[in-house]
Amino acid sequence: FVNHMVDEDAPIDSLIQAPHQVCRGGLPEPPLMFAPERRAAVGWDLSEPDVRAMMEGHAAARPDHPRPPTSAPADVNHAVDAAAAAAGSWDRLGGERRAEILENASDLVESAAPDLMAGLVHEAGKTIPDALAELRETVDFLRYYAVQARKHFGGDMVLPGPAGESNRLRLKGRGVFAAISPWNFPLAIFVGQVAAALAAGNAVVAKAAPQTPRIAARAVDLLHQAGVPRGVLHLVTGGVEIGQALTQHPGLTGVSFTGSTATAQAINRRLAARSGPIIPLIAETGGINALIADSSALPEQLVDDIIVSAFRSAGQRCSSARILFVQNEAAKTVERLLAGAAAELRLGSPWHLSTDIGPVIDAAARDRLQAHADWIGHRAARLFECPIPDGLAELTMFGPRAFRLENADLLGAEVFGPILHVVHFARSHLGSVLDWINASGYGLTLGIHSRIDSFWQQVAENVRVGNIYVNRGQIGAVVGVQPFGGEGLSGTGPKAGGPHTLFRYATETTTSINL
Ligand code: NAD
Ligand code: ALA
Repeated sequence: FVNHMVDEDAPIDSLIQAPHQVCRGGLPEPPLMFAPERRAAVGWDLSEPDVRAMMEGHAAARPDHPRPPTSAPADVNHAVDAAAAAAGSWDRLGGERRAEILENASDLVESAAPDLMAGLVHEAGKTIPDALAELRETVDFLRYYAVQARKHFGGDMVLPGPAGESNRLRLKGRGVFAAISPWNFPLAIFVGQVAAALAAGNAVVAKAAPQTPRIAARAVDLLHQAGVPRGVLHLVTGGVEIGQALTQHPGLTGVSFTGSTATAQAINRRLAARSGPIIPLIAETGGINALIADSSALPEQLVDDIIVSAFRSAGQRCSSARILFVQNEAAKTVERLLAGAAAELRLGSPWHLSTDIGPVIDAAARDRLQAHADWIGHRAARLFECPIPDGLAELTMFGPRAFRLENADLLGAEVFGPILHVVHFARSHLGSVLDWINASGYGLTLGIHSRIDSFWQQVAENVRVGNIYVNRGQIGAVVGVQPFGGEGLSGTGPKAGGPHTLFRYATETTTSINL
């Protein structure tokens, strides 16, 4: 099972290649992947000692690497005002030129790959395979939105003129977008939100998560180098106070937010209370993501996918599986296999290429997970818990674990880490499982494992969930291939990395000319 996540001896090149084979097959757009010459330039077929030496030598990996100063509310005001002044000329530049600039940025991100990966490992505790995957997703976002900018923002759409007049529809930037992002994808989501807003012709004030400002500063620097004018893209750093100052600024014309449901709701209330224009909120939030397995599921494949879906990235993905509903007849076998597979996970420093599970983001996150584990441990049976190896005291490690619950209602909110909850169900009570998922109000990802088509079809047709994965893992959506995002408490849409993303960042003007 562990080999699925990372093979210690595999050249890093194989980690780059695999998911992109999925990409190349079905895309109508140009393929999204690392340019081969760039891959060679950064020495992608290195093995672990080389990769570590290369990355540890990079500036972003050094503890003394400067942290950008925390912004003050006055900095936020200045940034929004400056962005508003620059927005019009950026919009008038047109989709073609903006696409070229985003493509420049994707090239620069590829060239800076070792440095950025080092930053992800150092600042966010990402494992090297996760850092690489995130880097790739960042490049994909830049290239994908460039394609979309060219396609939709290249000129007017000519509409019918039944009465003889000329009718045209034009997509335009809205003005100034706030892009507020979380720490768990400090490069890919940060850049993805910024790139979408820029592609659609907006100026942007981006607020990085307080845990990961250095990665954000590096990304903004690369975007400026690529040709995004300094007046068009601004970075502000800090926590809640800065987020509040940003979202109540009257000069904003849109907000793109990724983070927790509670924060999205707080921003929604603040936007509603503002005077001035009514502006859109694009919110991508969390979920209590379920995985449903019937007794026809292939146990080894199922367990492999559970391990990846629940524990990869230390469970710190919004897409991660949180609750496994397994049919009674398969439950015992699956639980035994799962405990065996979990015992093989390698917990350790993210600087080792062989590490499967690195630290969680900080001590506060670890304490919250421990508090939940203690609470649920008094109400449910512990199935397994991975011990923390000696010598990792300086890292905020939290061992992956699973609990069997008699009642799914014990889980009422997202638990953001490597804790899996297991519930058994009778086939005749599948309807109750689906009702529970819908009643939770969340709807981000769902995994289904079954060899019976009518089973997975029945499940898929009766849940309100944004991303459904059948007989495979439920994390790692690929830009342009699996547009990503949920509904209800999990977000507003449009999906990130999808064909409709840019429209919500834009406004439309219809012009009718009677010549
Ligand atoms: P968070 O909600 O605490 O913070 C997200 C961002 O919002 C940060 O930049 C933070 O400083 C800012 N913020 C906090 N309070 C604010 C306020 N009142 N006004 C304005 N901004 C405010 O989330 P987090 O802990 O950084 O990230 C983890 C959460 O993100 C999880 O719930 C996870 O599921 C979710 N997430 C969702 C997706 C998705 O695409 N659906 C992707 C990644 C993460
Ligand atoms: N888009 C990320 C995933 O699918 C969060 O895992």
